[in-house]
Amino acid sequence: MNNFDWYAPTHIVFGRGTESEVSSLLKSSKCNRVLLHYGSGSVIRTGLLGKIKSSLENACIDYIELGGVVANPRLSLVYEGIELAKSKGVDFILAVGGGSVIDSAKAIAYGAAADFDVWDLYDRKRTPESALPVGVVLTIAAAGSEMSNSSVITNEDGGIKRGYSNNMVRPKFAILNPELTMTLPDFQTACGFTDIMMHTMERYFTSAGNMELTDGIAEALLRTVIKNALILVEDPKNYEARAEVMWAGSLSHNGLTGCGNGGDDFATHRIEHEISGMFDVAHGAGLAAIWGSWARYVLDDCLPRFKQFATNVWNVEDSGDCREVALEGIARTEDFFKSIGMPVSLKDFGFELTDEVIEELAEKCEKAVGGKVGAAKVLYRDDFKKIYRMAY
Ligand code: NZQ
Ligand code: ZN
Repeated sequence: MNNFDWYAPTHIVFGRGTESEVSSLLKSSKCNRVLLHYGSGSVIRTGLLGKIKSSLENACIDYIELGGVVANPRLSLVYEGIELAKSKGVDFILAVGGGSVIDSAKAIAYGAAADFDVWDLYDRKRTPESALPVGVVLTIAAAGSEMSNSSVITNEDGGIKRGYSNNMVRPKFAILNPELTMTLPDFQTACGFTDIMMHTMERYFTSAGNMELTDGIAEALLRTVIKNALILVEDPKNYEARAEVMWAGSLSHNGLTGCGNGGDDFATHRIEHEISGMFDVAHGAGLAAIWGSWARYVLDDCLPRFKQFATNVWNVEDSGDCREVALEGIARTEDFFKSIGMPVSLKDFGFELTDEVIEELAEKCEKAVGGKVGAAKVLYRDDFKKIYRMAY
C-alpha cells in the first residue's frame, strides 16, 4: 500500500427530514450573515427553499439569496456572488442544490476572501490564502462535491471548464436527505449513478500494488450503486435505494476509495470536462459516453485491474484468458450504462465531432491537465484525440 493523506472534515447529517437541522448547524458555525445559494428553480418548486428560509428566519439567522446557478455553473454568476458577498458582509455560504450549486458556492467562497480575480485559481495563476466556509443541503446524489475539495466552473468566454481543488473549501457540513432526491428527473438520477461510479473507478484503475481494504471498499461501493440503480430505474421513490446511492455518492469522492492507490487516474473526467464545457452536456452522461473508449484504449497497460474489476464487480467468470475477462467487464459496464438510459457514444448527443473540434478539445484538455494525465496509462494530447475519435 502506498502512503496517503486522507482529509474528510465534513460533518455529515444523513436521513429523512434532516434539512430541519440546518439552522442549528449554521448557529454552531457562528456566522453573522449567510448567502443562500441555489439553482434554476427545482428547490423553489419542491418547497425546499421555502422550508430552509423559514428555518433560518425562525432561528434569527440573517441571510441574503442568490439563485440561478445552472448545470455546468458559470463564472459570471460566481462574480455576481462575490460582489454580493463582499458588499453585504457575508461570512458563510449555504449551497442548497447539487454539484453545480456547491461548486459555484465554493468559487464564491474563494473570491469573497480574495482581492484578485477568482478565475486565476482555476487558471493556475494564483493560490488562495483563505475562503469563506461553505455548508450544503444536497438535492442530488452525483458529483460528491458535498465532501470533496473540488469546484468545477465554466468560463463562458471560450466555453472553458476548469476544476480547482483545495482542502479549504471542503464543506463544513452537508445535510443528506435521500427523500430530497426523489423529485429528480430519471435522466439526472442516472447521470448521478454514473458520476458516482466513475469517481470510484477513476481511483481504482491504477497500477498500484496491494490495497486490499481500499479495493474492497471500492468494489462494494460499485456493486451497491449498480444494484440500487437497477432498483431505482423501476421504483424511483424507493427510499432505501436512494439512501444507499446518496451515501455512496459522498464516499466515492471524498478520497476514501483512493487511499493507498499511489495516485488517481481521472483521465475520463478530464477528457469529459472539455465536452461539457464546449457542448453543455450533463457531466454524468458525458462520462458514460467516453469511459468505454478510454477503457479499451488503456486496457493493456492495466490488465490485472480490469480483470479484477470484471470478476469482483461484475461477477464475470474467469475463463483463464485475462484479456477476455477484462473486456467482458468493460462490455457489462457499457450495457449497464445503456440500461439506465446513459449514452455510450458521443454520437448520442447529436453534435458533430469534426477533426477541428477534436483538435480544439484535445488542445484545451492538454492545457487543463498541464500536458498529461492518467495513472492506468499516462495520456498526452495525441491520446486524447484518439479517445475522442473512438468515442464518436
Ligand atoms: O438548477 P435546478 O433547477 O436545481 O436543477 C438541477 C439541474 O438542472 C436539477 N436538480 C437538482 N436536484 C434536483 C433537481 N431537479 C429536481 N429535483 C431535485 N432534487 O438537476 C440538474 C443537475 O444538477 P447539477 O447540480 O448540475 O448536478 P450534479 O450534482 O451532477 O453536478 C454536476 C456538476 O458538478 C461538476 C460537474 O462537472 C458538473 O459541473 N463536478 C463537480 C465535482 C466536485 N466539485 O467535486 C466532481 C465531479 O466530477 C464533477 O466534475
Ligand atoms: Zn464527476
